[in-house]
Amino acid sequence: MEKRFDEGFDNILVADYDKEYEGGYTINADTLVVGTERKKVSLNGEWHFAPDVFCSNIRSRWFDETKYNRNQEPIPYDADFENWDTIAVPGVWNNARREYALYEGAGVYYKQFDFDISREKGVRYILKIGAANYETRIWLNKTYLGRHLGGFTPFCVDVTQNLQQENSLLIMVNNTRKMEQVPTLHYDWFNYGGIFRDVEILVVPELHIQNSYIQLSKVKENSLEYWIRVKDIQKRAENLAWIEIKELDIHKEVRCLYMGKENLNGEEYYLYETKGSISINESRLQKWSPDSPKCYLVKMVCGEDQVEELIGFRRVNVNGRHIYLNGKEIFLKGICAHDEHPHALRSQSEEEIRHMFQEVKELGCNFMRLAHYPHSEMVARVADQMGILLLEEIPVYWAIAFRNPATVVDAQNQLRELILRDCNRASVIIWSIGNENPDSDDRYQFMKTLAQTAREIDSTRLICAACLFDVDKKQIKDRLISELDIVGINEYYGWYIKDFETLPMILNGYKDDKPILITEMGADAKSGYHSSSMEIFSEELQAEIYRKQFRVLLNTPAVRGICPWILYDFASMRRMSSIQNGYNLKGIISSDRTHKKMAYDVVHEVYHNR
Ligand code: GCU
Repeated sequence: MEKRFDEGFDNILVADYDKEYEGGYTINADTLVVGTERKKVSLNGEWHFAPDVFCSNIRSRWFDETKYNRNQEPIPYDADFENWDTIAVPGVWNNARREYALYEGAGVYYKQFDFDISREKGVRYILKIGAANYETRIWLNKTYLGRHLGGFTPFCVDVTQNLQQENSLLIMVNNTRKMEQVPTLHYDWFNYGGIFRDVEILVVPELHIQNSYIQLSKVKENSLEYWIRVKDIQKRAENLAWIEIKELDIHKEVRCLYMGKENLNGEEYYLYETKGSISINESRLQKWSPDSPKCYLVKMVCGEDQVEELIGFRRVNVNGRHIYLNGKEIFLKGICAHDEHPHALRSQSEEEIRHMFQEVKELGCNFMRLAHYPHSEMVARVADQMGILLLEEIPVYWAIAFRNPATVVDAQNQLRELILRDCNRASVIIWSIGNENPDSDDRYQFMKTLAQTAREIDSTRLICAACLFDVDKKQIKDRLISELDIVGINEYYGWYIKDFETLPMILNGYKDDKPILITEMGADAKSGYHSSSMEIFSEELQAEIYRKQFRVLLNTPAVRGICPWILYDFASMRRMSSIQNGYNLKGIISSDRTHKKMAYDVVHEVYHNR
């Protein structure tokens, strides 16, 4: 085939065209800089956008923006980003234009912006993206920076070297479902695509706090556990930092010791870390709880850098089949939710999140399962203030490629990014590492690795997974239970499984000395469809299944929490009957949030009278 460009570039026929764009500056949990109260410049707004069905941005190097040859003669080009239509960031492309509604593939975002880099010396500029689904590649001023995998967690890349006074930022996002990804090819929610959380440039000192953690020790009374990770472009033996909680008269100096160096994007960074505990008088501490969501202002300083966070201190643990918060036994009156809004889709505002929590509190809940992937960072921050306990999870959902080493790395990284992001959120009490995964040796090893990863970063929260009943043997038997603190169980007796009498039998046959959290139960109902004979998809049948479920579950001592599936109907392309019409109708409220179904009243009555 003749050469298309006189530069001799032509990889149109190359099959593994993107291999050279898988490496580069790996963007993962190691490059994540947390702390939302930082100096930052927002890049939210209208970005030029177009679908890139054949990944031509890479195959044909659109990112070079070549329009003239060496002799300055105009040559044909297939992409003039600056003239493309625009769509909103944050946002998904699916509701930006009708033709993008079901689009799965690569999309190219492009934004030109000025940045005053002369303003400050001795600072680093960190590009931070709150989430983009699924594979993201970044070019700044035509320089490829690297690739991030994962559709729901934040990621950062240091752009100090590449940022100019005038900039062009190209972000290629690909939401194609792939067997080796997490989640894999098949799942029961809508595969929205795009950059659906904030994009900003953090301005941090060269010596800055990258991640920090401070929580009430789970095992030691009167003790706060902390660690601080610091990054610098200078190598020193140590860096001093200090932790201050004025309201508790805490001011502790700590030594961040040199841990090693890393080379990112051609620059050497030096890593420092400190880890330890601070004695406190717990009798003076107003512990965080749903009824009293007290948070303290915690300041961490290292060199010129300062991170301030509102952090609630509470202790959650299990003993036998019981769950305790601050030493008092609790029952988790929960509900599940996807991160989806009828208009904002995956980009809910703080106000919309607050409205959801108000609805959840009116329902009588003290707990929520944020299914099946990390929701926005704002959710746990609002839950801290409004006093709702949370389970957060990564999308290790159904039949993941457990045997594939790259899949393990991807899942571990998403878990690390989630925990680093939310490890100081008092509302988060459970990390859940899987949902309805078919058992196998590979799956067991995969999940065991995830449980260990979570505990290495955060020893204070409970580890859970939504396991399946062994329906044939009619028992709860999953070797993963040995790695969990709380046994999550998804069961749909009365809906998918008709012989309801089996449910109490299985639950009463449960042998493990760990609490059961019913992580899902429920049934579909079309809003407004009523049937005195309890036809399938009627509100009456859904409500009756809820009543029967609660009667059994509330009389099973090992069940210490219930999370009906689900608060709102949600979009899913697996649900295409004329009744569902692209929606999973297991919500107790309609997807547009206007109609409470009869099952809502059942939950409301049970939770307000328990
Ligand atoms: C499963 C799964 C959910 C799904 C639900 C259903 O338990 O975890 O994601 O939506 O069943 O069938 O509606």
